[in-house]
Amino acid sequence: MTNFSNKLLLAPLSGITDAIFRRIARRFGADITLCEMVNCEAVIRGVKKTDKLLAFSPDEHPIGAQLFGKNPASFRTAAKILEEAGFDFIDINAGCPARKVISGGAGAALLRSPKLLVEILSEICSATNLPVTLKTRLGWDKPDLLESIELLEKTGIAALTVHARTAKQGFSGEARKNYHYIRQIKSTLNIPVIANGDVFSLEDYNLILAETGADSVMIARGALGNPWIFKEIKQGKKISTSLQERLSVLLEHINGLVNLHGERRGLLISRKFIIWYTKGLPSAKQFRTKLFEETKTLSDAKKAIIDYFNTIRENERTERPAAC
Ligand SMILES: Cc1cc2nc3c(=O)[nH]c(=O)nc-3n(C[C@H](O)[C@H](O)[C@H](O)COP(=O)(O)O)c2cc1C
Repeated sequence: MTNFSNKLLLAPLSGITDAIFRRIARRFGADITLCEMVNCEAVIRGVKKTDKLLAFSPDEHPIGAQLFGKNPASFRTAAKILEEAGFDFIDINAGCPARKVISGGAGAALLRSPKLLVEILSEICSATNLPVTLKTRLGWDKPDLLESIELLEKTGIAALTVHARTAKQGFSGEARKNYHYIRQIKSTLNIPVIANGDVFSLEDYNLILAETGADSVMIARGALGNPWIFKEIKQGKKISTSLQERLSVLLEHINGLVNLHGERRGLLISRKFIIWYTKGLPSAKQFRTKLFEETKTLSDAKKAIIDYFNTIRENERTERPAAC
């Protein structure tokens, strides 16, 4: 049974948290990971693309699948399929504010229909023996999640993750200004509460824990190009990542994506990761533009990336003042 207390979680991230990223994050200290959100109906229909998003390897436990949708009966059927597939828990998405998700009445739109959300959670909790968790935001357009929180807990969910923003906020404003709402929620509930929102460093992690009193913390954007954030938090002290390590994890990530998706698509998907892993490095923008324009094969891309990192290293060496 997955334990959701005192854990570091890698958040579900659409288009990002595939098996490659999840395994890297786990190696650096993420205790629990999730696949990106998938549509209940697509799971039931066995849509190939969806099945691919749900693929995981035996070394990935504990791992959760995240469902979005709006039809309680579909959640029930999809939950059984995910249980068969070997997931450790099932997370319900009631927080995604993307237009294509909320226009279908799913994701954060469920915050406008707490009764339906309760029905969905009750249905899925009775359908599966797996723990069911809920990931949501503070409310739709105001932080009123607290009003329905006890009803949500009564459905039998095993844990609750709260992103400290309303759906209307999207990613605007500072989550930290809302951490006190998570503290209120935590003090009302008996199940573990997982705090989420704006953790980009060890200091942010300490702040969110101190201000929310949450049981665990979930990290999303802070892990992009920086899976070492989990190690830093686990060690409780700042770490400096060497260029060599950054390069080797980037190459591992690209190799994995090409293995998973084939050379052309794998390289295209790699682009966003290359941007994140090289953020803040010297002349990174010029390097990336040239890389994306000029390289079409995995071996050319790898060679260009290695050359770029070698140049940075060389420059660092020559710029370093001589010891006296
Ligand atoms: C590109 C992107 C994709 C996301 N995909 C999902 C998703 O599939 N399911 C989900 O519950 N949240 C998703 N989220 C929200 C994150 O899981 C997380 O709640 C949010 O980014 C706040 O955490 P952070 O401040 O650590 O980034 C996504 C966020 C981003 C930026």
